[in-house]
Amino acid sequence: MATKKQESTGLLKLLEDQLADIYYAEKQLLKALPKMAKAATNNDLRAAFEGHLEETQGQVQRLEEAFSAMDLPAKGKKCPAIDGILEEGKEIMEEFADDAALDAGLVAAAQKVEHYEIASYGSMCAWAEQLGLHDVAGLLTETLEEEKGADEKLSEIAETVVNLEAEDSDEEEAGELEEVGNGSGRSAKAKGAAAKGMGKGSATTTKPNRNGKR
Ligand SMILES: [Fe+2]
Ligand SMILES: [Fe+2]
Repeated sequence: MATKKQESTGLLKLLEDQLADIYYAEKQLLKALPKMAKAATNNDLRAAFEGHLEETQGQVQRLEEAFSAMDLPAKGKKCPAIDGILEEGKEIMEEFADDAALDAGLVAAAQKVEHYEIASYGSMCAWAEQLGLHDVAGLLTETLEEEKGADEKLSEIAETVVNLEAEDSDEEEAGELEEVGNGSGRSAKAKGAAAKGMGKGSATTTKPNRNGKR
């Protein structure tokens, strides 16, 4: 038991540190995902958040198994990165509460979380393998696959529904502005272009996700 402490240097220390980081992050997500599900107006998006909440509960358990396998107490360490990403998500929920682009914003916020998790679990899997902690690596790989799946699902939702809804609504707004006329005609055009740009931008943001998948 005591020998474990002496071994905690280098890669092992890093793995322990990052396990505590992601344990904190997952626990924060247990609180954030129900709020995101509640805020989502699109049914598929809400279901995706609810489904991932269930997965996240399993992921927390898996991390506790990993701690146990390493003879460590399950203990989180404050992760400013996830706090920041979730704070941004909260801002989007507030600022776009009555906006048709809310769901698109929620998808983006959620994908930022998934990408953080994918990077973190990906690194930890490699370290655990390197350290010969194959049981730990197996647990982390299971979660890594779930995070990739969640990210993929969000990309699909964004492509098929959410971004289209946001774009349609912006175009309607632009149309209304054009009818009002005057100098606002120019801003209406700019707004229409912005709406199109948003659709394209969102499409490109899905590309790294696909790359990140493999
Ligand atoms: Fe997770
Ligand atoms: Fe996740």
